[in-house]
Amino acid sequence: MAFGCAKRQQRGLAEQTPTMQHADPAVLAGLLRGAQVTAALTGAGISVESGIPSFRGAHGLWQRYNPMEYAHIQAFLDNPAKVWVMLRELDDLLSQARPNPAHYALAELERMGKLKGIITQNVDNLHQAAGSRNVIEFHGNARRFVCLRCRRAFDHAALDFSHVPLYCSCGGLIKPDIVFFGEEIPPAANRAAFDLAEACDLMLVIGTSAAVMPANFLPKAAKNHGAVIVEINLEPTELTRRFTDYFLEGPASGILSETVTLLTRKAG
Ligand code: OAD
Repeated sequence: MAFGCAKRQQRGLAEQTPTMQHADPAVLAGLLRGAQVTAALTGAGISVESGIPSFRGAHGLWQRYNPMEYAHIQAFLDNPAKVWVMLRELDDLLSQARPNPAHYALAELERMGKLKGIITQNVDNLHQAAGSRNVIEFHGNARRFVCLRCRRAFDHAALDFSHVPLYCSCGGLIKPDIVFFGEEIPPAANRAAFDLAEACDLMLVIGTSAAVMPANFLPKAAKNHGAVIVEINLEPTELTRRFTDYFLEGPASGILSETVTLLTRKAG
């Protein structure tokens, strides 16, 4: 396939076509150069090099906390003190984390006009901290909080975490503004994410196991609308065999930094 146009000629066939090729940053740079609209879908893997273990990896939260007991909205409503044990651990991790070269590389691609936007499943705010501007928070943001009764919003800095669970002055329970299992995706984020997925001709799927719905429908939506799918991951996922066109195996930071370097060199 020529790099000049990433968009597929035919639509809606991709599910059964095993066209996956292994690729490297030079190939990715070529695809980025030729694409009209590039989107990125990111998951926990992109933040591993910032010191936040992925959810399903060896040291991941879901290895120690059953998500149905600690990350389901009903569990939070029934026993917020128990769920806060996990939330405090998550909060400590996120408070110390800083963007890594992968986050900065995506921010740089946006500045270069090579990336339209990021749809992230992450709640860690690291894309925004790295300077990315068009970030669709598919699962919310753990640095914001909301009262479940009066819907008042709170910033992380405005709350005292020495006594949890947190309650609003109206008496309502305060919840991190993240999507728990059993909750729907915020409608505006859901719309924006699928609009971008359907509009792009190149989608970079970075550091996600693609195990969680409906986020894992986004690459399929992109592909059904003609996009080329590039996956960057340490290992193949559910997506790789069914949807991925180009697979770049390895840590996201090295691959994305090298890609930006190649694009910058060529541009200069
Ligand atoms: P997972 O923990 O399921 O998957 C992380 C993926 O990142 C795995 O496929 C790893 O192989 C890959 N990975 C690890 N380190 C990497 C690196 N340095 N570079 C590239 N890839 C790397 O995390 P998600 O797919 O994001 O939901 O999980 C999806 C959702 O499940 C999360 O958003 C969260 C969780 O329940 C909510 O918070 C609502």
